[in-house]
Amino acid sequence: MNPWSLFWRQGHSTTFGDYFKQGYTGAVDDWWQAKLATLPTEPVVLEVGCGNCSLLPAMVKSGVKGTYIGVDLASIRLSSVSEQGLPESGIKVVLHSETPAEKVPEADASVGLATSVFGIEYSDTDKSLPEIHRLLEPGGQFCALLHHTDSVVTSMSRRAISEYNKDDLEGVINAISIISTERDNTPSLADLGSNPKAEKGRKTINRMADKYLTNTDINTANATMFEFMTDALKFFKMMGTPAQDRRLFISSLAEEHKASHERFKQMVSVAFDDAAIETLKSKLDELGFKQTTVSVIYSKDDILAWELNARKPSA
Ligand SMILES: C[S@@+](CC[C@H](N)C(=O)[O-])C[C@H]1O[C@@H](n2cnc3c(N)ncnc32)[C@H](O)[C@@H]1O
Repeated sequence: MNPWSLFWRQGHSTTFGDYFKQGYTGAVDDWWQAKLATLPTEPVVLEVGCGNCSLLPAMVKSGVKGTYIGVDLASIRLSSVSEQGLPESGIKVVLHSETPAEKVPEADASVGLATSVFGIEYSDTDKSLPEIHRLLEPGGQFCALLHHTDSVVTSMSRRAISEYNKDDLEGVINAISIISTERDNTPSLADLGSNPKAEKGRKTINRMADKYLTNTDINTANATMFEFMTDALKFFKMMGTPAQDRRLFISSLAEEHKASHERFKQMVSVAFDDAAIETLKSKLDELGFKQTTVSVIYSKDDILAWELNARKPSA
């Protein structure tokens, strides 16, 4: 399954999951509120790579009416945060799930503001930027926040990649699978302790728990494997549940942690350095966009993202 679909089906409102539980706040929200304040009444807003509608909650909060169109290659939905206040907001929502930014099923010149927060850079910009140009009405704006190679997001992603230990992860999954199979063959839970295969699996898991769960220092702990082991240990609460529930737990555990690793790898690989952002800017110029600006936005003292602005000239 698409690693982002797996993530969005958990109901998150942004890429940063539990960190931004109620939608974006701070620098991203400040940036977005400032943009929303420039819009005419009842704008048509397109968010590319929108996830579970990451910019919709702030649009609702701002009191802007109009239309919100969300496009994402992954399977997406409205997060519960996006639904808060939506019926009374007067905003019409159109979602294009499992739809590439390179081919958006909307009419030419139908969008007033095309936007993206950590989304457009995942697409093939040779195709998605012309598509945005096609969709924008004359005078329409394109504004985006894009991953920066030196941002706090990219460095956290790099750290998560370096912490991931595939062999240990697979060793734990394998040990849990063996214990689960032996549990199926052992009518009494009390007898499992004398089952040599289950005991070997339990020792492997204990060893990994010692390796990853004892260090809780925020600077030196392996947060990625800490989270994995914490999730893995939940298996032991399932020893009394039907075999199929345990099998589902194990396959979901493996799938989600591998997908998380894949998402971090993507985040790092799509980040722009100075040269890449200049190339992107040139592409916009070649398409006929005007007033193109690129700058860096910060969260406290840390680089958060590239900020890109461009306008399609009025006819
Ligand atoms: C880092 S997430 C950002 C999601 C959301 N904007 C947010 O800030 O929470 C990147 C999103 O881009 C989507 N994506 C990747 N390639 C895409 C493409 N070609 N077209 C549209 N969306 C794409 C992914 O599925 C994912 O949901």
